[in-house]
Amino acid sequence: MSKLFCPRAYFLLLSLVQNFLVFTAFLPSSEGHSQGLQEIVFPPQFLPSEDPSILAGHLKMFGLQRPPNGPVVEYNSVLKPQEFWDKHVSMLKPLVFRQAIANSPARLKWSDQYLKEKYGDLDVLTELKTENRTHGVTSRMLLGDFIDVYGKENLYVVTVLPDPMRKDLPLLPCLMCGTFKDFLHELNFWMSSGGTRSVIHFDADHNIHCLVAGRKDFVMIHPDFAPVLNVTKPPQFGSGYSSIDPDMVDLNLYPDASKVEWTYSTLGPGDCIFIPSGYIHQVRSYKGNRTISATMLFTVSLDNTFNNSSCENETYEYRPLSEAQVHWTYNKGDKTIDMGYQNVEKFRQYFLSSFDSLQVDRLTERKFSELIEDIFTLDEETMELIQRDTHEIFHTLLDPDGKGFLTRDDIRALSQETLKTIVRHCEEPHGPVAGAPGDRGAAYKLKIQTEAKQDKYKEQRKEDRDEL
Ligand SMILES: *[C@@H]1O[C@H](CO)[C@@H](O)[C@H](O)[C@H]1NC(C)=O
Ligand SMILES: *[C@@H]1O[C@H](CO)[C@@H](O)[C@H](O)[C@H]1NC(C)=O
Ligand SMILES: *[C@@H]1O[C@H](CO)[C@@H](O)[C@H](O)[C@H]1NC(C)=O
Ligand SMILES: *[C@@H]1O[C@H](CO)[C@@H](O)[C@H](O)[C@H]1NC(C)=O
Ligand SMILES: *[C@@H]1O[C@H](CO)[C@@H](O)[C@H](O)[C@H]1NC(C)=O
Ligand SMILES: *[C@@H]1O[C@H](CO)[C@@H](O)[C@H](O)[C@H]1NC(C)=O
Repeated sequence: MSKLFCPRAYFLLLSLVQNFLVFTAFLPSSEGHSQGLQEIVFPPQFLPSEDPSILAGHLKMFGLQRPPNGPVVEYNSVLKPQEFWDKHVSMLKPLVFRQAIANSPARLKWSDQYLKEKYGDLDVLTELKTENRTHGVTSRMLLGDFIDVYGKENLYVVTVLPDPMRKDLPLLPCLMCGTFKDFLHELNFWMSSGGTRSVIHFDADHNIHCLVAGRKDFVMIHPDFAPVLNVTKPPQFGSGYSSIDPDMVDLNLYPDASKVEWTYSTLGPGDCIFIPSGYIHQVRSYKGNRTISATMLFTVSLDNTFNNSSCENETYEYRPLSEAQVHWTYNKGDKTIDMGYQNVEKFRQYFLSSFDSLQVDRLTERKFSELIEDIFTLDEETMELIQRDTHEIFHTLLDPDGKGFLTRDDIRALSQETLKTIVRHCEEPHGPVAGAPGDRGAAYKLKIQTEAKQDKYKEQRKEDRDEL
């Protein structure tokens, strides 16, 4: 068979033709008017300042203040867990796996039409394309409705990868066994028409970010530079971000921003980048270039060691992500889309360590309440929304037998499901809960339909009466 006619070559040809069509469609119609889909240069070309009184890159995009140190280390095949741990995870060193998900159903099938047909009835959380941690807008809608409008509206799906979609993605071999396997924390799904921009930030968990479609550019910064970037100190658990505007770096406000060393990577369809826990990064995509990503968040063991005993008989054969055990998930009909919650095993550990810090062997309801209030500080409105009632939690979930106290063994014996229920009742959810303000998803639609039906019924009854 001629090489050109293997399906992959055909697919490449097709996408070349498509790209050409898109490209010509976006060519500027008049000089400087419309911004065409020109190839964007990344990393950007560094230009020394012409005026000695102004530092290079002042009021320019982040990255123009200093040339990069080089690209992120790349591999053409995915590492096995032990090597991944030894050379990268334990050293907090990023890497890129080229074409790691190239042959996945997601990469090959996820057209808008396919996504809408198969997964359009699932709820997703959306944000604005330009991330803003202090003035963010998170809403909830059906994936199908998003697909109808995302070409025109300023919306970016950043949500928990719905369970049914997991079967279209691979479990990467580097996470197949060893401690990683038991600490897959959360999976995410991202989709936009392009033109997204994150803030300069870091996440609490290790993260593998895989591109299904489009292009994303990553700026990567070692955590040592956190103070220079004025990165917020993370609260008890969680992530942090910089107050710097990544589109316009004010070197009067942040004079040392020029000292921040960085590496870079451009991801294309099928590529994945490993972003270690705490590693600072900034991500952008470009107008007119539809992007879809899937990310996998994981932690290592609680004592930051790696146990490879479950790798003994591992064959590393292809297996879908649906076969992996993940702590936080979302499926159709779930009230909350469990995103950004803390690692349940870390939560358990925090509980256990409080016995030592309080120097007690028993935790009473009062101590428990204080502990919860310490970890999760909430405003009145949120307290009401999530019905945080530590009395109720203590008596129904933690101490159903009515002993009146908890021991270390009680905490050790709690199931992950129970811990999750506690966390859901204690921590503010990331986005709207089904039926709450801001929800435009399945529950909201059902409510409107039911109301419309009731109205119609009432009207009919009234007409019937009038006729009598
Ligand atoms: C597991 O770890 C041990 C000790 O660190 C090492 O000798 C062995 O090669 C590892 N096994 C695998 C399958 O990576
Ligand atoms: C758009 O994405 C494709 C990959 O799907 C990439 O090859 C191309 O360079 C991107 N174009 C721009 C302008 O970023
Ligand atoms: C976030 O939005 C507020 C209000 O619009 C604005 O003042 C602030 O500069 C924005 N922050 C970033 C990082 O863009
Ligand atoms: C640094 O961060 C703090 C807290 O986020 C903020 O109040 C302060 O304004 C920031 N400094 C600058 C120079 O932006
Ligand atoms: C690694 O895990 C296995 C299985 O859970 C356990 O039996 C073994 O003791 C662990 N090894 C270490 C060094 O913790
Ligand atoms: C690996 O296979 C051997 C032989 O079947 C078995 O004895 C052993 O328990 C297996 N190890 C694991 C970790 O499943």
